[in-house]
Amino acid sequence: MHRITLVPGDGIGPEVTQSAREVVTAAGANVEWEVQEAGMRAGEKTGRPLPDAVIESIRKNKLALKGPTQTPFGDPYPVMVGDRVYPSVAIGLRKELGFYAAVRPIKNYPGVKSRYDNVDLIIFRENSEDLYLGIERMVDADTAEATKRITRGASERIARFAFEYLKKLGRKRLTVVHKANVLKLTDGLFLKAAQDVARDYPDMELDSRVIDALCMELVIKPETFDGLLLQNLYGDIVSDLGAGLVGGLGVAPGANIGPDCAMFEAVHGSAPDIAGKDLANPMSLILSALMLLRYIGENQAADRIDRALTAVLSEKKHVTRDLGGTAGTREMTQAIVAKLK
Ligand code: NAI
Repeated sequence: MHRITLVPGDGIGPEVTQSAREVVTAAGANVEWEVQEAGMRAGEKTGRPLPDAVIESIRKNKLALKGPTQTPFGDPYPVMVGDRVYPSVAIGLRKELGFYAAVRPIKNYPGVKSRYDNVDLIIFRENSEDLYLGIERMVDADTAEATKRITRGASERIARFAFEYLKKLGRKRLTVVHKANVLKLTDGLFLKAAQDVARDYPDMELDSRVIDALCMELVIKPETFDGLLLQNLYGDIVSDLGAGLVGGLGVAPGANIGPDCAMFEAVHGSAPDIAGKDLANPMSLILSALMLLRYIGENQAADRIDRALTAVLSEKKHVTRDLGGTAGTREMTQAIVAKLK
């Protein structure tokens, strides 16, 4: 039995995490849940948007499914862990739990409107360094600079992670993305690290693209890519581009992986405009739960959810408004659960 920390979060979070939970249970997965509150609601209740108990729970269970969290601005409830202050709950969790890899599958689903067909690629984003270290300074009143730091250790770690992930799925090709023609030292190191790691995977192919050329190719022929390996900033941008290729935020699941723990969450935020109205599309969080199930080897349950969700999307009778239907969150969830029975 796998025990999973469930963070309902804010806004539509409680609605979509409830859906995912029902679907996972109906699929017969061997899991139990430990509910922990984080985010704005937790801040209002306890003064702490990211209570220690949440971090301890994820450390203990090593697995989490997280709804979106809204970060309250300013002093009332700063996101503090010990004496460390973070800009948001998501960043606090990432740093405290050492999530170094962000994984985002980009895939077409039947019935989900998109400009492309047959897209099925996975984005691997290095999540611990690069320009997002936040080292910025004013050189003088009119000049600002930021430090881009790339290390061999972190670059090799994410490259190895990507190769292993693709290998488990039987995929053969990874594309490392860079701008080493200009950033010869930093991006050059990232590229070299990926090429060095590739030698340990002789059955797989590593090719490379300059980031600007990749963006063009992605919008012309995204179906030709299998896996993309990117630094933090490029990964952030290309991840959203990827979601746009297959229908947007409603169909974008994600995983954050660290050395000891993994946390799965939808890419979208707490959508305060539709919160509590039974309008949220639960698909991204259900797909995130599906990734979690595959991560822990509950492949039968994951396959069943995949089939049930695909059937509901194809029939188009019980899908939410953003997918062109009229159903609410509950109706869509119940339709998926009915296919699992
Ligand atoms: P958002 O993703 O919450 O909403 C953008 C638009 O997409 C809104 O019109 C919303 O109604 C719609 N939308 C989002 N998810 C949807 C779903 N499942 N079904 C149907 N429609 C959906 O982005 P926004 O408004 O920029 O952020 C709102 C809050 O969420 C902010 O406080 C932000 O900090 C937080 N956020 C949290 C994240 C996390 O916890 N990982 C990630 C992104 C944002």
